[in-house]
Amino acid sequence: MKNSEYHEPVLAHEVINYLGLDVPLKKQAYFIDTTLGTAGHTLEILKAGGNVLGIDADKELLEIAEKRLNIACPTLNDSVQGHFKLVNGNFRDIDKIAKRMEVKEVDGILFDLGVSNIHLKSQTRGFSFESGSAPLDMRIDTKTQGVTAADLLNNLREDQLIDLFESVMIQPVARKLAKEVVFRRKEKPIKETSDFLAIVSRARVDGGKLNPATLPFMALRMAVNSELENLKIALPKALGLLKKEGRLVVISFHSGEDALVKNFFREMRNKNLVKVLTKKPVVPAREETTKNPRARSAKLRCLEKI
Ligand SMILES: C[S@@+](CC[C@H](N)C(=O)[O-])C[C@H]1O[C@@H](n2cnc3c(N)ncnc32)[C@H](O)[C@@H]1O
Repeated sequence: MKNSEYHEPVLAHEVINYLGLDVPLKKQAYFIDTTLGTAGHTLEILKAGGNVLGIDADKELLEIAEKRLNIACPTLNDSVQGHFKLVNGNFRDIDKIAKRMEVKEVDGILFDLGVSNIHLKSQTRGFSFESGSAPLDMRIDTKTQGVTAADLLNNLREDQLIDLFESVMIQPVARKLAKEVVFRRKEKPIKETSDFLAIVSRARVDGGKLNPATLPFMALRMAVNSELENLKIALPKALGLLKKEGRLVVISFHSGEDALVKNFFREMRNKNLVKVLTKKPVVPAREETTKNPRARSAKLRCLEKI
């Protein structure tokens, strides 16, 4: 794979700084990259001298990352000092994974949420409405997850569909879209991304500055992969794994995710367990968003355990 084909890591400098990697490291500093992707952030951590436990729920992505790191590490011998271990798993099990891999007293943990551009560019996995029609699947982990996006659209009740869409859209739009789904699926089952795209268009969803299909596709993906639930379960476990002064960095791409992170940080601060290092979320500079439009909605928050 060419470098340009990997996922472009978002807020890479800021991640390194907030993980405390901008200063020379003590030996054996350990980091967990809970969303390895194609290892963009992990590679930066390794270059800065940290050791990394990398986790990804998608086996295909993990294999790409492993190949990339195996190539990068020997050739960058002088600049890559840390070592890495990779695990295919869900970050909601971060406690069990860390224990199994004998990683404890962690210096920093990163969550870079959502899916990678490898997912979005895939012409077979149904994450995107821009890559031609594909089966409406959207599972990140095709081994253990049984329910696809098409299953949800064809089987949820109308009120459940409203809840699903409401997680990212205002209620009247969520209602209109859910109604259209229920009406259209009586005519024929919804199977392909193009079927859902047609439904979004018939429901006349107004996307504002975004493509009208962006939020409906995102809501569906978040539901298929239980993204908010996984994050809610993983954050306290991650905090439990950090050593004193260890840092937790979370990059979110949607207001629902960011609100969950913000509330968790506030709750932990009120219990005097952490110091919040980002009073406001850190967002990418214009230079980054021009080069990488996907970074536009990124928000980084960081806390330090006390
Ligand atoms: C935005 S990408 C991360 C990109 C990565 N930072 C890089 O530089 O390439 C998010 C990754 O997290 C993975 N992922 C999403 N939910 C997950 C979960 N609950 N557990 C583990 N991995 C997950 C996705 O498969 C995807 O590869």
